[in-house]
Amino acid sequence: MCAVLNQTAGGYAFYKSPEYHRITRFRPNGVPLDRPGHYVYLRDDESGDYWSVSWQPTGKPLEHYTCRHGLSYSKYQCNYGGISAEQKVFIPLDDPVELWDVRLRNDSDKERRLSVYSYVEWSYHHIEFDNQNFQMSNYCSGSSYEDGVVLYDLFYEEFGYQFFTASFQPDGFDALRDKFIGLYHDESNPVGVEQGRLSGSFEKTGNHCAALQKCITLAPGEEIRLVFMMGQGQLEQAKETRKKYSDTAYVDRCFELLGDYWEDKLSRLQVETPNQNMNTSLNIWNLYQSEVNIIFSRFASFIEVGGRTGLGYRDTAQDSMTVPHSNPAKCRQRIIELLRGETKAGYGLHLFQPEWFDPDKKEVKPFKSPTVVPEVNVKDIISDDLKNVCSDDALWLVPSIVEYIKETGEMSLLDEVVTYADGGEGTVYEHMTRILDFSAQQVGATGICKGLRADWNDCLNLGGGESAMVSFLHYWAIQNFLEVAERSGKTEDIEKYRRMAEKVRAACDAELWDGKWYIRGITASGRKIGTQKDAEGKVHMESNTWAVISGVADEEKGKSAMDSVDEYLYTPYGLMLNAPSFTVPDDEIGFVTRVYPGVKENGSIFSHPNPWAWVAEAKLGRGDRAMKFYNALLPENQNDIIERREAEPYSYCQFIMGRDHTAFGRARHPFMTGSGGWAYFAATRYLLGVRPDFDGLTVDPCIPSDWKSFRVVRKWRGAEYHILVENPDGKQKGVTSMTVNGEKVDGSTVPMQPAGSVCEVVVRM
Ligand code: GLC
Repeated sequence: MCAVLNQTAGGYAFYKSPEYHRITRFRPNGVPLDRPGHYVYLRDDESGDYWSVSWQPTGKPLEHYTCRHGLSYSKYQCNYGGISAEQKVFIPLDDPVELWDVRLRNDSDKERRLSVYSYVEWSYHHIEFDNQNFQMSNYCSGSSYEDGVVLYDLFYEEFGYQFFTASFQPDGFDALRDKFIGLYHDESNPVGVEQGRLSGSFEKTGNHCAALQKCITLAPGEEIRLVFMMGQGQLEQAKETRKKYSDTAYVDRCFELLGDYWEDKLSRLQVETPNQNMNTSLNIWNLYQSEVNIIFSRFASFIEVGGRTGLGYRDTAQDSMTVPHSNPAKCRQRIIELLRGETKAGYGLHLFQPEWFDPDKKEVKPFKSPTVVPEVNVKDIISDDLKNVCSDDALWLVPSIVEYIKETGEMSLLDEVVTYADGGEGTVYEHMTRILDFSAQQVGATGICKGLRADWNDCLNLGGGESAMVSFLHYWAIQNFLEVAERSGKTEDIEKYRRMAEKVRAACDAELWDGKWYIRGITASGRKIGTQKDAEGKVHMESNTWAVISGVADEEKGKSAMDSVDEYLYTPYGLMLNAPSFTVPDDEIGFVTRVYPGVKENGSIFSHPNPWAWVAEAKLGRGDRAMKFYNALLPENQNDIIERREAEPYSYCQFIMGRDHTAFGRARHPFMTGSGGWAYFAATRYLLGVRPDFDGLTVDPCIPSDWKSFRVVRKWRGAEYHILVENPDGKQKGVTSMTVNGEKVDGSTVPMQPAGSVCEVVVRM
């Protein structure tokens, strides 16, 4: 079970699938923007005044209000009229139940009679049901009440049951939304709360809610604790849950375990650098964001409401690369799911549900529902004409597999047999070769990879035109693959793929350099995109960063390309994707030319590629420049300009409006963005330079020259590495000496230490 809640407890919950099994309803893109939510109302039963612990939805002028979002919990706290109240929301690790741990204290000097109400609005589970065809969906849900439990049943769905209960015996309830809210009222002034009396409603059909009322009397200074529980299941489940979580000591224990869960993840990599905001980000929020992405595959947030689910091939492939140290199991699962979504031709299906290709999937449905989860004929989504194929999707998976192996040491993954989406099977290793072969075949007139439907940039639609970025990516993927081929002693493949790499490099060299920087691509009619002669779309981030990361660019060209990125794309909020923005539609280039200037793919500060520039600068050894770029995008650094940013300063956003837009600096779409994982990956592995190899831990930092030292604690394959990097001479890159437990080691790689051991590593730059 998952919940997405904001700073006023607005949001929604779902069980396993945000598309097909939503628990509570959300009105996306609504006014106000966060209704409904998971609310607690309080009412003074003497005066009739009422308010909400999370400020909204009543919006009463509270004397004090805070919301704290922690790792997998949110805590709302308010003071109003002499009552201090807190609502802490979290889901324990082991049960599909959302708990609201509510505490009230009478801070006034007289006895107080209060009513406490819960409120959630149930959803019709399937996001489409919830928004259309009400002649059907309005009649498929029913509520009932039994012994302190509101039960909700989605009649059309095989496993469509939820309950809402509490640690106390309620004094009233409503399970019908419109009875609780009342005619021409809304969540801000529900009649149930206004009148202080719930009507005991429930029915088969209609719109449902879970409102439980508890009447309490609090003496001055007296405190009370109430636990509300919203869970998945039927009455039996509800009874068990109620028994278990009415014990507040157990609730506390569950909350501690949730803390331990995150603590364990965070402890695998902790940093202490002179950059405080970098520390906060890497040690807490950046990892959290990266984990959230691999879990949700970027489909559940306020923005990505959850109506599109499954796996986006390229997004999930990249996310899998970024957190193998904190979530190896999830990364592995995603890698296998994506390999199953690969065709024999070697491309990935751009968007699919992993269940479609899961050979172990067993249907255990008690009855056949007329709708709900649509069945897909896999043949229909695999076309021979490559119309829907993106040129980059599967390439991202190759390095993710290699990173996973370096992290875990699980070389045998390469021999695991996995099915192909269109039939047949092959080892993971073979899947990798097919990915590389596909890109080698899909080249255009000049030998550069075709752009197909799109490359990483969804709005660059070159068709048979060519994408510089994809050729660089192809080169990078081949290099990654060669590392495992060499370790596996595959002599023939080593030869073959070295030749392939050389061919790609030669084509890139011959076709893509424009004198100062690399072009972005070539249209189907042979026009170059992103040249010095262009008035718009002149310099692009994707091709220039990837030319360097891949290793195709030599030092001179690499430096010139990245200088151009700095000159044309840098802003105080991060690097723009391209500049100047396109203003003239050009369908040979693609939809990007029809996006408003300064927005999204057309000249915004698109966050995801920013870390590519950090890696590129780190490869070039320019730590001052890399940190300048890092600091510009770092959300924590934008805390003091939040009125401009308009987004939380602890989450990377998909994009920030670029220079060519009137709202320059305004951030949009927090959390669900590849910039989370990439920022973490780039900062830890390339700026701080701590990255696992097959049998050693490399420490090769690229830092600002004014850093005197920094520390990293890294857990890797069961051992702990306490690393101190000293920089007495103010360098930006280059390790001059390294000791492990006082013994000198050649190079910059710490040999793998025995599991269970702790070692002290001192690196001098
Ligand atoms: C969105 C998509 C991602 C794409 C990016 C740039 O973030 O999820 O796949 O690479 O936009 O177009």
